[in-house]
Amino acid sequence: MRDIPLAAAVIGAVVAAVGVPVIVKMRLGWDEFHLNAGELADIARDLGAAAVTIHGRTRNQKYKGRADWPAIGAVARSLTLPVIANGDITGIADARRCLAETGAAGLMIGRAAIGAPWLPGDINRALTGGADAGLTLLQKIRVLSGLYEETLKFYNREAAVRRARTFLAAFLKDLAHGGYGVNPREKALLLTSSDSESVQAALGTLTEHIQLLHVEPDSGLR
Ligand SMILES: Cc1cc2nc3c(=O)[nH]c(=O)nc-3n(C[C@H](O)[C@H](O)[C@H](O)COP(=O)(O)O)c2cc1C
Repeated sequence: MRDIPLAAAVIGAVVAAVGVPVIVKMRLGWDEFHLNAGELADIARDLGAAAVTIHGRTRNQKYKGRADWPAIGAVARSLTLPVIANGDITGIADARRCLAETGAAGLMIGRAAIGAPWLPGDINRALTGGADAGLTLLQKIRVLSGLYEETLKFYNREAAVRRARTFLAAFLKDLAHGGYGVNPREKALLLTSSDSESVQAALGTLTEHIQLLHVEPDSGLR
């Protein structure tokens, strides 16, 4: 965002090279003194981008502070191409508020989906009026168990184990936020074992453990 001509060249080259709609992702600007998302989005539109996604922080903010949804809204209102709002959407209530504050055409969910890959689907159904009780905790654990297997198939072993630990750790953190205690032994296995059978076994006992406690979803869990 500090080199608009270069960004324009990249966008133009990508639009020319692919046969699918191109969405350009950006932040609000480089820092608070250079909020040029509107300018870059205009250029992206003129170059044939189908939409832009805006993370409501500057590059200098990294992940500090709250995402500035009104600032995304200001860009969205000034543009004639769809804007997808991004930043700090962690659940259905946030999603509704973000859409109302920004008037955006869509939402992008990042960190909150790492340990809850069902979240975008849950939000989509809630916003489109689908009746939905969401997944139970046991179903969520089964989803993660399947995701673990798919991850192992898709990446080489070292990369797969690293990625799997990221989403397992995020899920355990979400569990803790939701008030669920996890057996330290299972937790250690999920986060340190490179042996897929041990990890799947730990997911299995996690399930039993939660069943034994008669914990029902979904108090505060994503
Ligand atoms: C681990 C991680 C990897 C990311 N990788 C990318 C990336 O490759 N490209 C990108 O545009 N944004 C990337 N982001 C930023 C997110 O897309 C998103 O803009 C940001 O996390 C704010 O949204 P959130 O509050 O929903 O997480 C990444 C974020 C995280 C936490």
